[in-house]
This record gives sequence, C-alpha cells and structure tokens, in this order.
Amino acid sequence: MKPRVFSGMQPTGNLHIGNYLGALRNWVRIQADYESIFCIVDLHAITEYQDPTELRRRIREVAALYVAAGIDPAQSAIFVQSAVSGHAELSWMLTCVTQIGWLQRMTQFKAKTENREAIGSGLLQYPVLMAADILLYQAAVVPVGEDQSQHLELTRDLVQRFNSLYGETFVMPATSLPAVGARVMGLDDPTKKMSKSAEGAGHAVWLLDDLKAAHKKIMRATTDSNPAVDFSNLGDGVANLLSVYQAFTECTTETVRAEFEGMRYGDLKKRVAEAVVAGLEPIQARYREITADPAYLDRLLDEGADRVRPIAEQTVQLAKERMGLYRHGS
Ligand code: TYM
Repeated sequence: MKPRVFSGMQPTGNLHIGNYLGALRNWVRIQADYESIFCIVDLHAITEYQDPTELRRRIREVAALYVAAGIDPAQSAIFVQSAVSGHAELSWMLTCVTQIGWLQRMTQFKAKTENREAIGSGLLQYPVLMAADILLYQAAVVPVGEDQSQHLELTRDLVQRFNSLYGETFVMPATSLPAVGARVMGLDDPTKKMSKSAEGAGHAVWLLDDLKAAHKKIMRATTDSNPAVDFSNLGDGVANLLSVYQAFTECTTETVRAEFEGMRYGDLKKRVAEAVVAGLEPIQARYREITADPAYLDRLLDEGADRVRPIAEQTVQLAKERMGLYRHGS
C-alpha cells in the first residue's frame, strides 16, 4: 500500500502564487507516489468571521483551483473538511492532551492576535484542528509551505504525547517543503510573506488575476536602489523575484545565475512576469472549463468525502478505544 499524503488550504481569500509554489504544485508532483488526500479546510476558515455566502463561494473556488492546477480527482481525494465529522471529533480528543503554552507559543497565533483585544478561542485551537486533519488519515507526509513548519512540529509533539499516554495510535508525519518557493514574499514588501489577507493592490499575484494585471504587478515589484542583478549583493526583492522565476520555470540555480547576473531590473522583471503569466495561463483556462459545469464540482467533492470518511471513522474509533471512551473497545 502507498503511504498517505494529506494537505489543505483555507478558503479565506484569493489563492496566490505563494500558495501555488509553496504547496499546490508540490501536491501535483507527488500525488501519484502516494495515496493523496487534499482538503479545503473550511473549519479553519471560521476561526475568523467569514461571510457565509462568500465562504460557500470560496470553498468551490479553491476546489476548482486544485483541479485546475493539476490535482487529478481520479487519483487524489478532494473534499471539504466540514463534510467529515471526524475532524471536529478528533480535534477535541487532541485538545485534551495539548498544553495551552504550546499553542500560545505559535508564531502564527501571535501574529494574528497582535494588538487585538477580542480573540476567539478557535484561533488558539487552530493548530490542534490542523493536527487532527493530518492524524485522522495517518498521513506520513504533509507537503506545505515553510510557514506551516511550526504547526507540523506541534503535530509531531502531539503524536508523541498521545502515543506515550495511550499507546501507539498515530503515525508520525513528516513535513515536505519544496526546494524553491517554500516562502514567497510580498511583491510590495519583500520582508513580508505573501499572504491571502494582506491589503494592497500590488502585494500578491492571485492565481485568477487577469494576466495583464499579473504582468503589471511584477513590473511594479519593490526592488532596491541598485540598477542591476548582483549575486554578491542580492536585495530581498530581487532574490524573491529570482526564486519565483526559478520555481515557475523549474530551472537550476546555476541557470538563474548565468541568465541574470548583471541584468537590469527592468529586464529581469519582464522575464519574471513572462514566466508567471506562462504558468498561470493554462491553470486559468482549465479553471474556466471546470467551473462551467457546477454539478461536476459538487460530485467531485461528494465523492472525495465518501472516499476518505471510512479512514476517518476508523481513526476516530481507534482513538476512542485508546482513551477509554464509552463502549469503544473492551
Ligand atoms: P494556508 O491556507 O494559509 O496556505 C495554504 C498553503 O500555502 C502555503 N503558503 C505559502 N507557501 C509559500 N509562500 C507563501 N507566501 C505562502 N503562503 C501560504 C502554506 O504553507 C500552505 O501549505 N494551516 C494551513 C491549512 C491546513 C493544513 C492542514 C495544511 C489546515 N489543516 C493540514 C496541511 C495539513 C493554512 O492555513 O494554509
């Protein structure tokens, strides 16, 4: 039997090239080597208020983008988290073996709650639900961008704690980061991670951006006061553009060096913009095909949930038995 892969994205904003290069494209690459399960994590999305109509729309948009980017539904299961009740059930069981201090130390929690007064407790519990997602399917590998590494470490701590308290129950998952593109930075501010929620028109290239607009955003990306690429003195903005180029064109670091050393920033940006547009074009064409038939997506998501539900139920049953919950086990 193939080892299992699990990963997911929040349907909370437009997906951007960081989501694609950091995660989605890696999923496409490895899907054939594993039993792959890809989720749209709507229960994570509601840790912050979402307009219900908009959330429903975004869930479908993310699902369609998974397929448009190359996830093959015949090979991989694609489903919505809230359609499988085991996520919430296991999350509670794991909550009870999690120390509050572990959660308060999470950098994403700290960043999201900085300077805020009313903080929903779902935001604190967020990584526990994420651990439940992964452990529910006994996933061996979790392909994500770098910003999720700390959450994966917490997941491994939870496996260790649960298994040592209750006996071998969960598989220890490994993090899989892409070699290039694990942390794509904002185009307007290359010291900040590209993010779905960031404001500012020039911050991110969205996967569904109009191609001309995408080109323009790259041309306007923040660089530095040097005139041309100098590998002995690379600014953050230029380094980010070069890694976006390398990730989209799948060329080697040596090729990038040879091609771009000494190139003026205007020409560099043009090359990067062309590579990004060439990468997005087929995804957008496929997206339009997929969304032309809304029934297709419904069917696909229902089938995905039906495929993974038995795995989830088995794990919930096992965890209940291990913990001694009512009438489970002997
Ligand atoms: P989310 O929705 O924020 O992001 C989805 C995926 O995109 C990656 N990513 C990036 N990669 C490179 N550069 C960036 N600027 C960038 N921004 C985002 C993320 O690392 C992620 O892989 N907590 C998760 C969703 C989740 C999950 C899971 C993931 C819930 N349960 C279980 C894996 C396994 C999140 O918020 O991702």
